[in-house]
Amino acid sequence: MSSDNGDRVILTHPLGATATILKYGATCILWTVGGAERLWLSEGAHLDGSKAVRGGIPLVFPVFGPGKKNHPTEALPQHGFARTSTWEFLGQTTSDPVAVQFGLGPEQVPEATRALWATPADFLVVVTFTLSATLLTTAVEVANTGSAAFDFQWLFHTYLRVQAIDSVAVQGLVGQTRLNQLTSADVTDSHEVVFSEEYDLVYKQVPESVAITVAEHGAVTHTTRRVNLPDAVVWNPWIAKAGGMADFTPKDGYRHMVCVEPGHVSSFVSLAPGALWHASQELL
Ligand code: BG6
Repeated sequence: MSSDNGDRVILTHPLGATATILKYGATCILWTVGGAERLWLSEGAHLDGSKAVRGGIPLVFPVFGPGKKNHPTEALPQHGFARTSTWEFLGQTTSDPVAVQFGLGPEQVPEATRALWATPADFLVVVTFTLSATLLTTAVEVANTGSAAFDFQWLFHTYLRVQAIDSVAVQGLVGQTRLNQLTSADVTDSHEVVFSEEYDLVYKQVPESVAITVAEHGAVTHTTRRVNLPDAVVWNPWIAKAGGMADFTPKDGYRHMVCVEPGHVSSFVSLAPGALWHASQELL
């Protein structure tokens, strides 16, 4: 079942799993299975609509990272406006698994921000959260409802909760090429990702058949599957960057999270008038 609690929607599965989605950003801020939290949410996250949520699953659209030079996204804020707009709750579509939908069109985006996207885009984005006993699937459809093509990027900025980052390995990416955003170098990975410093890696064109897993002490605790999302960001801010983010608390929180973020971010999706693009991430 689902209940609309004003600023958030709460999903409850008959076998006990729960998910909470804020209308602000259509941000999933809590997902529990067997009472255990599966996502990391900063204790200092702003949940009142004053700032993008630090943790959970912020939605990144129409640009990943800063606006791109000489591109209609150039003036947009970091990671676009989906995460800082209040989405419309469209209702529940199924009961087992329990699924709910949220919609975002230009009218939901604060006008001053919308005006920073130098494209006459008319769009409708619908995100569907589907909660089963052990899975949380987040699907997106972007429709071009206007008469001109537009370009966009999409990313699920998923913060996974881990016990201790020193015992974590991100698996499945050996042999894949990644851009290290901290050095701008492209490297092909020869080993699993283990953490001892800040990482900001964009894996590009990872085959859809690859499940990205997080193992702790060698045992898989999270599995991420992707549909129509060729790229994946792996991010941990480590000590200095976490220290510099006012909404990142406690300060050692970087030890309890790793972001595995499926997206289409190494290039733009070009959407023709009347066209529909869809993608999803499945978390286990
Ligand atoms: C990641 C980016 O997706 O998001 C990083 O790869 C960025 O470069 C991080 O630092 C957090 O971004 P923000 O805007 O939420 O602080």
